[in-house]
Amino acid sequence: MSTNQCGNAQDAFYATGNIVPLPLIVRAEGIWMYDDVGRAYIDASSGPVVSNLGHGNARVIDAMATQARRLDFAYSRVSRHQSNIDLTHRISELAGPGYERVCLASGGSEAIEIAIKFLRQYVVAKHQLDKKRIITLSPSYHGGTIATLAITGDDTLDPFIDGFAMKSDRIPAPFQYRLPDGQTRQNYRLACAQALEDKILEIGAENILTFIVEPIGGLATGALVLSEDYVNRIRKICTQYGVYLIYDEVMCGTGRAGRFLASHAWPDARADVVVLAKGLGSGYTPLGAVMVPGTMADELAELTGFNFSHTYNANPISCATGIAVLEEYDRLNLIEAAAERGKSLKARLETLATKYPCMGDVRGAGLMMAVELVQNPDTKATFPASYPPTEHVRIFGLKHGLLLYSRRTAGGRYGDWFMVAPPLTITEDECDELVDRLDATLNDFSNAACTHLAEVIN
Ligand SMILES: Cc1ncc(COP(=O)(O)O)c(C=O)c1O
Repeated sequence: MSTNQCGNAQDAFYATGNIVPLPLIVRAEGIWMYDDVGRAYIDASSGPVVSNLGHGNARVIDAMATQARRLDFAYSRVSRHQSNIDLTHRISELAGPGYERVCLASGGSEAIEIAIKFLRQYVVAKHQLDKKRIITLSPSYHGGTIATLAITGDDTLDPFIDGFAMKSDRIPAPFQYRLPDGQTRQNYRLACAQALEDKILEIGAENILTFIVEPIGGLATGALVLSEDYVNRIRKICTQYGVYLIYDEVMCGTGRAGRFLASHAWPDARADVVVLAKGLGSGYTPLGAVMVPGTMADELAELTGFNFSHTYNANPISCATGIAVLEEYDRLNLIEAAAERGKSLKARLETLATKYPCMGDVRGAGLMMAVELVQNPDTKATFPASYPPTEHVRIFGLKHGLLLYSRRTAGGRYGDWFMVAPPLTITEDECDELVDRLDATLNDFSNAACTHLAEVIN
């Protein structure tokens, strides 16, 4: 790109040292994306785990067009509209008891901020002014705005955040692949849950607003699925100390994990607030949702009202899109499909892992999985800084027609992984095709990594 060329795509801002080429995508259909020279790619991670319905769904596109023709925009502070009423009703119905009120947003970060703002206004209205601190996991990801970056568990952000925004207090994520010496998986995850109580006692429960956690981690932990004993324990701790529990289901919610909410797997550990985004709009529109108990929302409405406003919250086209997306979930049985296909795809990835020792771990639930890459499966050693493995896998993926989502998070300190999270509409045959292409990708990667590591050692 010429430096004096105006505009250009978003990547004009990315580090010039990025080594993974970005194909120019011109159209997409189902799980397939096509570039400007006619090459086809499987959208193997649904972009950043967003395109749950796949691309080009005619019913959703028709619903968007119909809504746009009938009512393009109506501002929620001066009017009401039916698509808002219908979408929140359907989300609340699918989420179940405890989530009677749904506040809509234009994406995940905005929804996470709305969730925090709601809880903060609730405690302020009840004169609990000291309740300000937020606890999150390290590592974790909760968004790209300044406030949500500050609560994201990634200390490589410290130079940007320190003294600039209010950082969360952090406790360790209950990783299950690499364990501290002498710990079993169960001991370690329960120790991580205990770290929540220790942190609350250290800060003082009266100062803590909320603990925010992803039931299944996104890129920050590579599809780390929380365990039932861990969530039951953190739920108890939050209840005991009056700390509100938020589940960040921006990525893992809306059916991706084989349940409408990933946290539906744990009936005894329901959160106070749940946040959805990505799959809810499935890439057709920017959409997020914050689900809260009717009792809390109504109490706050009585006290002061929840004071928030974003111009595009609950905009008619996004609401109509969300309704159409959820109707397609029903029509195509996508939540069941995520559970079923997820199981068979995971089994196939595990088989592939017997062939490629670099596949240290395959984890996840439903169609939200990650493959952790290691130099050596016995020592679980990570790759050196000179060889960011996920970047190389992405490059070989492009060669074999696979678009994979990954980024070296927290400088690779916790490990390296890429997401395998195709659209929930993927068929069994398409899963075979995905695995064949991944096989070819990992074959190239393993050979290239061996050569590189041999050169480094010599
Ligand atoms: C767990 C989680 N929370 C929040 C966000 C932020 O969502 P958005 O990018 O839509 O603002 C993301 C995005 O990847 C996410 O994975």
